[in-house]
Amino acid sequence: MDTITFALAKGRLARKAMQMLEYAGISCEEMKDENSRKLIFEDPANHLRFFLAKASDVPTYVEYGAADIGVVGKDTILEEQRNLYEVMDLGIGKCRMCVAGPESARKVLQNHELIRVATKYPVIARDYFYNVKHQTVELIKLNGSVELAPIVGLSEVIVDIVETGTTLRENGLTVLEEVCPLSARVVVNQVSMKMKNAQIQDILAKFRTGLDRMREEEK
Ligand code: PRP
Repeated sequence: MDTITFALAKGRLARKAMQMLEYAGISCEEMKDENSRKLIFEDPANHLRFFLAKASDVPTYVEYGAADIGVVGKDTILEEQRNLYEVMDLGIGKCRMCVAGPESARKVLQNHELIRVATKYPVIARDYFYNVKHQTVELIKLNGSVELAPIVGLSEVIVDIVETGTTLRENGLTVLEEVCPLSARVVVNQVSMKMKNAQIQDILAKFRTGLDRMREEEK
């Protein structure tokens, strides 16, 4: 039997994904230690291996086959444009990619003026403005706290993730347009899907079982 390697986007998503697998009988006790700085966890009895990676690197590990399976947000999948199969929506980490800014920016957006758009997601933002809205904009790549940009005058609007809306609200900003809904997805390496198909299908079935059990518990 081959070993199946999982790449999980570290943080809340990894914890939720492991919780989901645990419902279906796959667990990795070692990973639960929040104080540990360990990045890779082995479960030789079940031929499984898990590692935690920065979210934006998960599609890279999966494309190159360093991981057979990945769990990562749809935002990262869209932004990274890697060759992989997206096979399942886990329905966790639900949020939205939005165009946001001060209420006053609504007009410049509607008038298709040449505006500046700050974002951590230039690929998604470019696709939305150029291919969906057919609007030319100037994109500015930032690496975090994107909400600052319209406040300090770097850009008119931002393209960013909105979950509860608290960050926008507390900074006097609002959602102006919705780009797309987001959630955590399971991705699979294209070669692994062929060469390790039976094992991968078995794991996907376990994710489905975990998903059903989790939903039942939430009722
Ligand atoms: C994300 C996102 C928003 C915030 C949205 O930031 O970029 O800033 O969460 O959540 P809310 O709608 O519930 O307030 P993250 O915490 O990932 O950090 P970042 O600022 O470095 O992007």
